[in-house]
Amino acid sequence: MRKAYSAWRSSSDRKNVSIPPMSDPFDFERPRRYAVMGHPISHSKSPVIHSQFAQQCGIRLDYTAVQVDPGGFAQAVEHFRAAGGGGLNVTVPFKVEAFKLASRLSDRAEQAGAVNTLKFNDQELYGDNTDGVGLLRDLESNLGVNLKGKSILILGAGGAVRGILAPLCDAPKRLVIANRTVSRAQDLSEQFSRLSGITIEACGFDALSDQHFDVVLNATAASLEGQVPPIPEDIFRPGALAYDLMYADQPTPFMIWSRDHGASQVVDGLGMLVEQAAESFYLWHGQRPRTGPVIQALRCP
Ligand code: ATR
Repeated sequence: MRKAYSAWRSSSDRKNVSIPPMSDPFDFERPRRYAVMGHPISHSKSPVIHSQFAQQCGIRLDYTAVQVDPGGFAQAVEHFRAAGGGGLNVTVPFKVEAFKLASRLSDRAEQAGAVNTLKFNDQELYGDNTDGVGLLRDLESNLGVNLKGKSILILGAGGAVRGILAPLCDAPKRLVIANRTVSRAQDLSEQFSRLSGITIEACGFDALSDQHFDVVLNATAASLEGQVPPIPEDIFRPGALAYDLMYADQPTPFMIWSRDHGASQVVDGLGMLVEQAAESFYLWHGQRPRTGPVIQALRCP
């Protein structure tokens, strides 16, 4: 039906015919299927975000959240493709598995060692990682932060940091990764210093005393446990930004702590979530949605 309809749409008969995209009586095409897979997934805002993007762009879309049991990811992806899926977002804990499953990778997915976006192209399974560009767009475009010449501290050295490191290496004055397990911070600093050509420092939290930063990004899972990484109380430079990659309806423990300890601007990861989704949307549909109205709608439902 897709083929027949496309042929009709492109025939010379319709030269002078205006075709509304959604309500055309000859529009028998079924919306292409997309989904986010993770475990757990019930809290995901991705279906709402993608349906708002689709509405903006006049695209018919079927986007759902699919909970996948650990061990069942590869099979779930294959079933989704067989059922006519166009692409997938991938979240915790399957990003590394998605990386291994992809038959072709973008440079940024290759660097991150993790995939958050899959696209089905005929026989190919293309893997991309839009987390880093999502964070960068939120920082630079939405929050107006210029990272050039800034001292940046990243807390954590897990999968979330792998995804965001490469774009942060673009000429900061100083880039430090601090983690509870110092060896994980060192591994990341070695790998990404080699890739980017800048020197990334690595340390434990106790080595941060008497150090001050313009931007502090919390990429640890500490907020999930209601905790804040043990960092010095005077970590923020005047005018500093505290950014938690997590988002929740209430401010996270890191956001509350940062506000109490002198950060000028305190932000959660909702903007990053919407921006990484917009980049996935662009990869799948070739259209760039406006993110501002969607961020605003999610903040004040
Ligand atoms: P993700 O994919 O979300 O990054 P991860 O790879 O399990 O998940 O990494 C979690 C990160 O949060 C790690 O940096 C972890 O520190 P360790 O490498 O020492 O395990 C950090 N983390 C988790 N709980 C923490 C806590 N209570 N305080 C500080 N750091 C914590």
